[in-house]
Amino acid sequence: MASDLETSEQLDEAEKNSYGEPEQENHTSPTDLSELLKEGTKESHDRAENTQFVKDFLKGHINKELFKLATTALYFTYSALEEEMDRNKDHPAFAPLYFPMELHRKEALIKDMEYFYGEGWKDQVQCSEATRTYVERIHYVGQNEPELLVAHAYTRYMGDLSGGQVLKKVAQRALKLPNTGEGTQFYLFENVTNAQQFKQFYRARMNALDLDRKTKDKIVEEANKAFEYNMQVFNELDKIGSSLTEEAQDGEVPVHDGKGDLSKCPYYAAKLGAGEGSGCPFHQAVALLRQPSLQLVLAACVALAAGLVAWYIL
Ligand code: HEM
Repeated sequence: MASDLETSEQLDEAEKNSYGEPEQENHTSPTDLSELLKEGTKESHDRAENTQFVKDFLKGHINKELFKLATTALYFTYSALEEEMDRNKDHPAFAPLYFPMELHRKEALIKDMEYFYGEGWKDQVQCSEATRTYVERIHYVGQNEPELLVAHAYTRYMGDLSGGQVLKKVAQRALKLPNTGEGTQFYLFENVTNAQQFKQFYRARMNALDLDRKTKDKIVEEANKAFEYNMQVFNELDKIGSSLTEEAQDGEVPVHDGKGDLSKCPYYAAKLGAGEGSGCPFHQAVALLRQPSLQLVLAACVALAAGLVAWYIL
């Protein structure tokens, strides 16, 4: 069954009729799925809020390259999620939560990707490792355990509806994006007039699903997994962000110890471009010192210098 609220006018009406009254919000029981999810993912939520990437983002410590990668991760995640939601739109364990008009983010993310990468964006981006693991789980759930799909929808859409406006403002300010919305379409739920009311409405829909306690517990467990997948993506972005920051030190040559990936050395990159021997003074010195003949000459020089110093002192 598809959503029986086909237009946003109907949804507005439903929001008003069912959730406009404050007393309605108290009619929950601890065994309602919405309550089990809220309580059961509290710790995960705290941990997600406290990941370095999220904390930095909230402080506006994000650069455009990293934001583009975060948008890419969201694009792949929502493509998978919405593909599986479309697949299960008539499944009784998901149908009442199918709101493509109001919630789906893929089209908005495509606009953001076009804005950041240009028309040929698809050829320029790839799905990161952590995002791929998340995406694979979403597909597995959608195809094998559709009753758990609600966990993935809950974790993302309820979070997006809760923090979207704040995150949008942070991104616009930090990256100097236009306040007309280019690059931040993801955060704009055009067809949700009141996010707070919609969330109440969505909770009521979750609570009306015909589920036994065991399945509800499995959904909470899956939601905790979904939080975990998100944290893995944040941690991956944080790592990439740190290396981007190091490389972006204006005009500075990154300090390195000769270990690690030689191809990341800027002199090495220059050498590849010029097709000559390595121009990096550090790598050249290390290479020279590795030659036994030079080591012998160097040892002789040190011994001679030590002898001269001893002769002078005595
Ligand atoms: C610093 C980052 C974050 C802050 C400040 C934050 C803040 C909040 C707040 C205040 C609410 C309650 C909204 C309400 O009840 O109306 C909320 C709900 C929620 N957030 Fe976050 N959040 C953050 C990050 C995240 C992340 C990273 C995720 C998941 C990937 C997430 C998922 C959720 C979910 C699923 C809910 C709904 C809880 C429920 O009512 O059952 N949040 N968040």
